Amino acid sequence: MAGKPVIEIAFDTPRLEEKLLAKAVAAKGAELRLTNIKQNVFTLQKTSLDVCLVRCVSLYSAIHTAALREGAGVRSINSSESIFLAGDKVLTVSRLRSANLPIPRTAVGLNTRAAEKALEKVGLPAVDKPPIGSWGRLIALVRDIDDFKLVAEHREMLPSSYMKTHIIQEYIDLPNRDIRTIVIGEEVVGAIYRYRSSNDWRTNVALGGEPVQAFLNDELVEISLRAAKAVKGDVVSIDVFETTDGSYLVNEVNGVPEFKGLMKATGVNVPEKIIDYVIASTRR
Ligand SMILES: Nc1ncnc2c1ncn2[C@@H]1O[C@H](COP(=O)(O)OP(=O)(O)O)[C@@H](O)[C@H]1O
Ligand SMILES: [Mg+2]
Repeated sequence: MAGKPVIEIAFDTPRLEEKLLAKAVAAKGAELRLTNIKQNVFTLQKTSLDVCLVRCVSLYSAIHTAALREGAGVRSINSSESIFLAGDKVLTVSRLRSANLPIPRTAVGLNTRAAEKALEKVGLPAVDKPPIGSWGRLIALVRDIDDFKLVAEHREMLPSSYMKTHIIQEYIDLPNRDIRTIVIGEEVVGAIYRYRSSNDWRTNVALGGEPVQAFLNDELVEISLRAAKAVKGDVVSIDVFETTDGSYLVNEVNGVPEFKGLMKATGVNVPEKIIDYVIASTRR
């Protein structure tokens, strides 16, 4: 590659994260291409781009953008495969398990009847999740069979067939918080606790969860790097649960990670670190 690296930030809904990433590209002296994927035509022809940083909120827009750039010979971060693996919780837990990472006890039913059996296996209380979703949406706490029936009835009404799949997990009695780490390449750049707000059982920042800096111990670093590898992620965030006996469980991996909460709580300049990594990847 001669001259300045050309970095594309592909987005559908620009958030604070995308704005900070764009600023970081300019600050590093790289050439910035901002692509609103809602208006862009992907031709699969050779382009002058070196790397596409995929920042789409919509999972399928993210996967398709990454794949189309890869098809045109452009490195995508994350790769389409990685966004796919991290974006579907069935695929993620399967990869995490095959990499021998500890996860909450999980049973999956691909329709309501099978899901009811999965619930019997896991026991109550349980958590019922659809394969795709974020910000805690459609994640249900199932305290009894009536809760499950209601969740199943609502899922039956959703048009997508994959939404009829239920991921049933043991309910982990979290200490009012979970842990979120961010991995960039081979480095875990920071960790936060997300304390749940008093009016929700989930810890998502989008639901009022409060980010507070967490200490990154060796075990958390190791588990985070292994989880990122399990889904082939370059830039990912990892959700980790602490159990009452003091061990860690990996909950999920996000392939288009939000990081404003972590930035605020830790002071780590995440966008700068991401762009440093993206630029370094153009030299490899
Ligand atoms: N097995 C579980 N036990 C206890 N709490 C859970 C469990 N699974 C999810 N949660 C809570 O729900 C939140 C959202 O679940 P998650 O699987 O991370 O989905 P999302 O992709 O919507 O963030 C988690 O951050 C956590 O607070
Ligand atoms: Mg989550």
